[in-house]
Amino acid sequence: MKFFIDTANIDEIREAHELGILGGVTTNPSLVAKEGVDFHERLREITSLVSESVSAEVIGLKYEEMIEEGKELAAIAPNITVKVPMTKDGLKAVKTFTELGIKTNVTLIFSANQALLAARAGATYVSPFLGRLDDIGQDGLSLISEIAEIFNVHRIKSQIIAASIRNPIHVTEAALRGAHIATIPSKVLTQLMNHPLTDQGIEKFLADWNKSQK
Ligand code: E4P
Repeated sequence: MKFFIDTANIDEIREAHELGILGGVTTNPSLVAKEGVDFHERLREITSLVSESVSAEVIGLKYEEMIEEGKELAAIAPNITVKVPMTKDGLKAVKTFTELGIKTNVTLIFSANQALLAARAGATYVSPFLGRLDDIGQDGLSLISEIAEIFNVHRIKSQIIAASIRNPIHVTEAALRGAHIATIPSKVLTQLMNHPLTDQGIEKFLADWNKSQK
């Protein structure tokens, strides 16, 4: 399973990139709004840093709007993936983008059927939102298992991005259940690196070393 970072913050992206673990970036309108920057300008900054997939979401909800915006986004850099919401117009747009050779990420997926439809329309990536399902008392991780099994049985090539990740357990479970990618916020990335026994171990090694030097 690869790691994408789920942010539009350039410092967080740079930091993850420097760790050597970054397989891509996902953004969404809320994440971009939080930064208070020009969307296209920020995408230019991100794509000059990261050569892997960078998802940029369309705002328009009508097919024609999605196509116009998506073409503009795709023109920013060759590694832009156009993010499209899981709607009827979204599916139509995915079909057109696929014909144009533009990669797509179908977002806001909350059922296996939505994932299957998105894949059949030609989606490069499908993004089931684990955390938001958990928030309403449903099992987000089971959705990953269902989609992974369906894609496996039917030899579907679309890749599953486990999205709306809230904690390290989501990450481990998404990997075990067959997600190709987990897109994670910077805070969760930090949590993945840390373990109290690692800190204690380092402290003990250093204390023993310093004692031996006296
Ligand atoms: C992924 O592509 C989404 O932007 C993101 O994971 C949504 O996460 P949230 O539910 O924490 O907003």
